[in-house]
Amino acid sequence: MKGIILHGGAGTRLRPLTFSGPKQLIPIANKPISQYVLEDLRDAGVRDVAIVLGETFPELVQQHYGDGSRFDVSITYIFQGKPLGIAHALSLCRDFVGGDSFILYLGDNLLQHGVRGYLERFVREDFDVQVLLKAVDDPTKFGVARFEGERLVGFVEKPKVPPSKYALVGVYFFKPTVFDVLGDLKPSWRGELEITDAIQLLLDKGYKVGYDFVTGWWKDTGTPDDILDANRLVLDELNPEIKGFIENNASIQGRVSIEANAIVKHGSIIRGPSIIGENSIIESGVYIGPYTSIGKHTIVKRGEIENSIIMDYCLIDVNDRIVDSLIAPYSIIASNTGKPMGKRFILGERSHVEI
Ligand code: TTP
Repeated sequence: MKGIILHGGAGTRLRPLTFSGPKQLIPIANKPISQYVLEDLRDAGVRDVAIVLGETFPELVQQHYGDGSRFDVSITYIFQGKPLGIAHALSLCRDFVGGDSFILYLGDNLLQHGVRGYLERFVREDFDVQVLLKAVDDPTKFGVARFEGERLVGFVEKPKVPPSKYALVGVYFFKPTVFDVLGDLKPSWRGELEITDAIQLLLDKGYKVGYDFVTGWWKDTGTPDDILDANRLVLDELNPEIKGFIENNASIQGRVSIEANAIVKHGSIIRGPSIIGENSIIESGVYIGPYTSIGKHTIVKRGEIENSIIMDYCLIDVNDRIVDSLIAPYSIIASNTGKPMGKRFILGERSHVEI
């Protein structure tokens, strides 16, 4: 069994975060999203993994994962470039796949219970393809399954009138027979080769298409709110570990991880679930509230932070409360103590500020 992780795409909905890296490397509880994907594949017994790279800083992906040995897998990189569609990305993997079955995993999807159970079923049932489905509140944003009775008969991409409440999760199990139909695909209205069209073709041609329902949560992390949701879901299952230093009279409440060499100073409060990254400093008087991830080498000098992700090498120094925020590496949020008084901004393109 092989694995393919899609690490391309444009990530336009996550700008400006995706101006400096692919969205799949955005950290959730201080670990890149796609690392959860890679570790999930590995824990399901997949050791041979291809990562499909896009145009957005592919070198950062290679830098992080290397040859895969750090994660106990072997990694092959395949360059897609422009996001011409998930089925297009897959079509580039034919040589890598050879005669093996494989899991195609979108690098920005997270599954609470991983893929192992579904993989076992795929193998047992001997399907040509197995898709995963999850009931969602707003199916209009997803590929949606269409049933006749209990028989899966097709999919509709982002339907105005959804044929069911079941969205197609970004994890697919395939036999190499899928490559028989990829050549017949035509670009969709949005100019992409769609994986839903490929599976539809397999259905129409009588291949054995199975489906399973996802138990536990599933998160597609396409937007800033999705990233914060994912951060909450992952932190909710945090195994707290204290590796850094906590001064006397600092208050650590609930499930909190303090990573190596981080310092939490006296008089600060950290309320879990939350995580403080390596070499970061939480100064006296600071409050870090639930569902907050602070990255590496970040200093929180003053302020209160809740339900937020503050990434690496940031400085927070304000007499204010920061909530529901995503702050990219090397950002500074500080008080303007000079004259004239007022709010001062030095913002990159497509920044988003609410004050
Ligand atoms: P999307 O989230 O649909 O696309 P995107 O990354 O371009 O995001 P946006 O709409 O905000 O611009 O992609 C789903 C996943 O598949 C994501 O992990 C990126 C990956 N992908 C590829 O690797 N190659 C592709 O050609 C496409 C379309 C997506």
